[in-house]
Amino acid sequence: MFSLEGVSLRYGGVRAVSDVSLTFEPGARVAIIGPNGAGKSSLLSLMGGQTRSTSGRIRLGEVDITRLGPYRRANLGITRSFQITNLMEGLTAREQAELACLTPGRRGWVRARGNQDSKQRAESLLADWGVPQRAWDVRPESLSYGQQRSLELALAMARSPKVLLLDEPNVGLTGAENTALVERIAQLDPKITVVLVAHDMDMVFGFAQRVIVMARGKVAVDGTPDEVRKNQLVADIYFGTGGEASK
Ligand SMILES: Nc1ncnc2c1ncn2[C@@H]1O[C@H](COP(=O)(O)OP(=O)(O)O)[C@@H](O)[C@H]1O
Ligand SMILES: [Mg+2]
Repeated sequence: MFSLEGVSLRYGGVRAVSDVSLTFEPGARVAIIGPNGAGKSSLLSLMGGQTRSTSGRIRLGEVDITRLGPYRRANLGITRSFQITNLMEGLTAREQAELACLTPGRRGWVRARGNQDSKQRAESLLADWGVPQRAWDVRPESLSYGQQRSLELALAMARSPKVLLLDEPNVGLTGAENTALVERIAQLDPKITVVLVAHDMDMVFGFAQRVIVMARGKVAVDGTPDEVRKNQLVADIYFGTGGEASK
């Protein structure tokens, strides 16, 4: 169980996230939607540890992880991909995937628990997440945008996460890449909790068992896809009355 209790994040005068409480069951498939600036990426950063909350508590099971940074959260099984591709320059796709399979130990980098052979594991990750073999020994700046996004997902999966946080993973993908991505996400281990921020409604309603609608840093609606689709408030705040929500 992954939970947020009264979590807030302020940037100066801006309340990016305001007193949000949420619980995610193991294996939950959750989409977060909402207008630009609603606080979706900020919420994901709070969950992944990239940003510290200004108040509230975050727990994974019984462990209070409120103050833990992203590496320590990744060690506990929480990983994330970013809205804007976040890859290391200078290392090839294969090198990055191998590195992602390692964990910092007392005497330098060691294999993460459960990763028998980081070379083999890196290759299977790249293959599973759709990075074509011809791109494995290429640096990220020379990969296509779609390949970069695939690589980023492969890296997020390297640590066998319990909670996978994805921020608009399909932005900028071609139709075919998008379809492949949706299929890969659908095939993830059902024990993994997946929290996905997306704008694409086909993706959201195809993937999610639960949809959280954010507006102005708060959770406005939290329900099944059907409940959210029929919710008038959602139509008002998100789609503009009578717009997309009636699809
Ligand atoms: N690093 C930052 N510094 C200052 N304000 C920020 C920062 N990141 C986000 N914000 C502000 O926080 C609010 C929520 O942003 P964000 O979480 O990116 O929303 P979303 O992902 O839903 O579009 C916005 O008003 C945004 O301008
Ligand atoms: Mg965002």
